[in-house]
Amino acid sequence: MEQTLSIIKPDAVKKGVIGKIIDRFESNGLRIAAMKKVQLSEQDAAEFYAVHKERPFFGELVEFMTSGPVVVMVLEGENAVAKNRELMGATNPKEAAPGTIRADFAESIDANAVHGSDSLENAKIEIAFFFAKREIV
Ligand code: TYD
Repeated sequence: MEQTLSIIKPDAVKKGVIGKIIDRFESNGLRIAAMKKVQLSEQDAAEFYAVHKERPFFGELVEFMTSGPVVVMVLEGENAVAKNRELMGATNPKEAAPGTIRADFAESIDANAVHGSDSLENAKIEIAFFFAKREIV
C-alpha cells in the first residue's frame, strides 16, 4: 500500500470541480487518508516547488499556486503514486490523454488543475510538508 500527495490547484478550486476530481480518485481505488483546504503563502509555494527554482516558469508557478486556496490530500492505495499520475494525465493538458483529470479540467500547462507526487520518495517529503502524522488516518 502506497501513499501519495495530491493538490487540487487554485484553477480547479475556483471552477468548483473539487468534488468531480475527488470522485476520480475514489472511483479508481484511491482512498483519501487526509484532506484540507489551505491558502499557500509565497514562502510555502516556493519551498514546495524548490526543485524548480532555476526554471524560467518558477515565478509564475509560485504566483499561480498562491492565487487562491488549494485542496491538499493524501491518497492511499496500491501503486498510489503511479495511479494518481495516470489519472492526472500529462503536465500539458493539450497532451493529456482523453478522460484524464487534466484533459477534462485543466486550462493550460501552468493552470493544470492538479499536482501529484512523481515518486514514492518525493511523496514522503511532500506529505510531511503538509500533514502531521495525526492528520493522516
Ligand atoms: P512538472 O513537475 O514538470 O510537472 P507535473 O506537475 O506534471 O509533475 O512541473 C511542475 C509544475 O510547474 C506544473 O504542474 C506546472 C508548472 N509548469 C509550468 O508552468 N510551465 C512549464 O513549462 C512546466 C514544465 C511546468
